[in-house]
Amino acid sequence: MVIFGASGDLTRRKLIPALYDLAAQRRLPMEFAVVGLSRSPMSHEEFRDRLRDALEEQRDGGVSDDVWESFSKGIFYLAGDSRKPETYEELRGFLGELDEERGTQGNRMFYLSSSPSLFPTIVERLGEAGMNQGEGGGYARIVIEKPFGRDLMSARELNAGIQRYFEERQIYRIDHYLGKETVQNILALRFANGIFEPIWNQHYVDHVQITVAEDIGVGTRGAFYEEAGALRDIVQNHLMQVLCLTAMEPPVAFDAESVREEKVKVLRAVRRMDDGEVERSAVRGQYERGWVWGEEVPGYREEEDVDPSSTTETFVALRLFVDNWRWAGVPFYVRAGKRMPKKATEIAVQFHAAPHTPFSRNGTEGLEPNVLVIRVQPDEGVSLKIGAKVPGSGFEVRSVNMDLLYGSAFLEEAPDAYQRLLLDLMLGDPTLFIRADETEGAWSILEPVMKHWSESGEIPFYPAGTWGPEEADELPERDGRGWRRP
Ligand code: BG6
Repeated sequence: MVIFGASGDLTRRKLIPALYDLAAQRRLPMEFAVVGLSRSPMSHEEFRDRLRDALEEQRDGGVSDDVWESFSKGIFYLAGDSRKPETYEELRGFLGELDEERGTQGNRMFYLSSSPSLFPTIVERLGEAGMNQGEGGGYARIVIEKPFGRDLMSARELNAGIQRYFEERQIYRIDHYLGKETVQNILALRFANGIFEPIWNQHYVDHVQITVAEDIGVGTRGAFYEEAGALRDIVQNHLMQVLCLTAMEPPVAFDAESVREEKVKVLRAVRRMDDGEVERSAVRGQYERGWVWGEEVPGYREEEDVDPSSTTETFVALRLFVDNWRWAGVPFYVRAGKRMPKKATEIAVQFHAAPHTPFSRNGTEGLEPNVLVIRVQPDEGVSLKIGAKVPGSGFEVRSVNMDLLYGSAFLEEAPDAYQRLLLDLMLGDPTLFIRADETEGAWSILEPVMKHWSESGEIPFYPAGTWGPEEADELPERDGRGWRRP
């Protein structure tokens, strides 16, 4: 596995820890090797030491010497400029040596975790160097990290650029949310049970809410975030994927083509907004100084590498419609934001209220409609809000939760998302990766929103530690509904 941009954060924080865990579980063949490529000069040994230090820090010292010893023998470093053809000659030679020494058998995985502006060049150089094929009958696969383009046009260009040299089956566009156990569990809940699917439609569902809330701010990633904003950073990928899994039709099989085909159909069915609809159904916001978990935190404009007059959004709320038979007229209220009161990713499916309650009005004041909540993180699990009788004389009913916690239902530990996805990559299974038409579909839904926002400078603010600007509350309120407090 060749990692482009190996000196970056992702290698240290996610990729190497995930590979280390796979090694510890004896899921990595002895022949496996990682080659980190970056510009800064470094020896193999220095690179290994850096990675080990980061792992020690992350695991609080819990790194096994034995596992690290044998795993790190397969870690190498190559300094080079990924824009220059010479780098690829050198890389190709080096990988050839590894084939001999370690027995990597000509198989290649190229992991693009460099600055996204370099993606097209790296792909082209790999293609020109003939590295879009493995050596001697081995395979070549390419992994693209997000962001996948910054709008529909750039995503199309990027797809076309990659497809010039690589076939779709060789391309792995990664979205780490698909590697999360609880995200995959949306499919298990829906399609491994007989009781949910019959009511998973406009006849029974009043509306759906999807929340991806984070308590953290942008931290040291100000420069990146200024270019991205919440819409590109979370909504276009993670949130749209969760929406697809929630709304899709049952796939005929759990394989790459069947699953991705159904997701694409959802993206195609999401109603495109015109300007008026953007004004009614899209809200953005930016956090100001405020309090999170009892601590005073700076506003977005005060963060490092952020323009003091920035209008980049750190919060987005949208009202979407999926125009098909299943979901006609059912609003999907979705939101994502930083510096919210807590970290919480969840999908809440709210059902219609009971058509008639035979109990007295007074007795049903505490009764709310049924809501099925899939908690992606934290407290991973599922809960169903149901009406139950309050113990005592008379007949008072109130809403209570039926709760399933994955953590206590299973003894097995959930692997980290990257661990799962890297293993699938090695096994050649792209089911949990994104197909070209999915990225383009998601961008095309958001295109009118981005256009509208780029033309108007005003952005509403919200104090850090709150659920977004007031305008966001008005979104469901206009329809006589309200946001949940996860
Ligand atoms: C990343 C975004 O893709 O996902 C970050 O770039 C965000 O801004 C992160 O913090 C959230 O991931 P998770 O797994 O912590 O929910």
